[in-house]
Amino acid sequence: MDGIRIRGGKPLAGRVRISGSKNAALPILCATLLSDGESQLRNVPDLRDIGTTAQLLETMGCTVHCAPPVVRVKPNNVTPEAPYELVKQMRASVLVLGPLVARFGRAKVSLPGGCQIGSRPIDQHLKGLEALGATIRTDHGYVLAEAPRLRGAEIVFDMPTVTGTENLMMAAALAKGRTTLVNSAREPEIVELARVLNKMGAKVRGAGTGVIEIEGQDELAPFDHAIIPDRIEAGTYLVAAAAAGGDVLVENVPVEDLETLIAKMRAAGVTLEPDGSGVRVVRFNPLRSVDVTTAPHPGFPTDMQAQFMVLMCLAQGTSQISEAVFENRFMHVPELIRMGASIDIHGHTAHVRQAKRLDGTEVMATDLRASASLVIAGLVAEGETLVRRVYHLDRGYERMEAKLEALGASVAREHHVEG
Ligand code: UD1
Repeated sequence: MDGIRIRGGKPLAGRVRISGSKNAALPILCATLLSDGESQLRNVPDLRDIGTTAQLLETMGCTVHCAPPVVRVKPNNVTPEAPYELVKQMRASVLVLGPLVARFGRAKVSLPGGCQIGSRPIDQHLKGLEALGATIRTDHGYVLAEAPRLRGAEIVFDMPTVTGTENLMMAAALAKGRTTLVNSAREPEIVELARVLNKMGAKVRGAGTGVIEIEGQDELAPFDHAIIPDRIEAGTYLVAAAAAGGDVLVENVPVEDLETLIAKMRAAGVTLEPDGSGVRVVRFNPLRSVDVTTAPHPGFPTDMQAQFMVLMCLAQGTSQISEAVFENRFMHVPELIRMGASIDIHGHTAHVRQAKRLDGTEVMATDLRASASLVIAGLVAEGETLVRRVYHLDRGYERMEAKLEALGASVAREHHVEG
């Protein structure tokens, strides 16, 4: 298994370009199942989760040409079954459920695995498909959904779920009549999926608000679409540059989708200036502690919580970081404490005090964003840090060590044999 070795203490300088959005590309890859022609995605990041989705589509019988940044999918001979071996590698595989049942009248999809951050049920996806007329059973770890033709309905989510909203938008696009999704998620990736469904001929209105309306169609056309930049990758480099110090231009940043993070970073004393399609980040002053609570978009993204916590380890005072979206999303904390961080957890809140310094050591990545936080901690720490199990990082960050190296960091990938 690969690890990343970092020699800390160097400020970052230069430019880094943000890749296409993983969380936008995944549902859009699944949306290719909704038509029978060949669809093309451009600006797709070269990541393990993209490879897993391509493999899943191929296993089901699609013809897939996966050469990021371009991926083409033709779903000409589909068996609507998603096996455990692939779904366990990535929770978002559940995104094939809606398109499969809508287009083929049945689907058999393994219950998902993915990052170990809380229990992460899919009850809202299933409840929504039932409301559209599907019969749902679970059997030996698989979900079996059947419906000769889905019918539009009003669906009220108990909580805004991102992939739940996406799954039902895709299902509703081929349902008979109108579907209204109430208390839907408002993430930019939802807006991006609506753009694609509209290109395919569905009539989707209200994406980006809490109420989305979809006029279902009898057939949808294939599409050609370039994916938006990844707001979480962008946020991760903004925080990395602020933590390590220096002067970095992060290019291709969806600034309007990162307003909450940017406001919190400014409150912490970081200088962030819009510059063309990017943001220049410079840190002149000592950092001040600020409190954050994660929330669905447009609130502070849970996917930036771990990285922001490293910044707060360096800030004067005590910061309270509350995780309100997922249970069990503080798995980076014990590893940061081993590096010298001063953090206490009380329920869903971490109390983060300024660390005298962070020390390099060997740490273990446990999930995608936790891994990114450990890499940032390694950039700041004195001496050498080895972040093990970076396969988590490879799920969501394109060539992170190369991008950091180009900014002057001392980072190298190593291969380890684990006993
Ligand atoms: C998506 C993102 C992930 C991000 C998360 C929250 C993708 C591929 N992944 O994950 O990076 O961290 O949004 O912004 O886009 N819930 C239920 N029942 C359900 C569905 C969700 O109880 O049926 C709960 C979850 O346990 C969680 C909350 O709802 O507490 C939000 O989860 P959700 O928005 O569904 O996250 P994902 O779509 O899995």
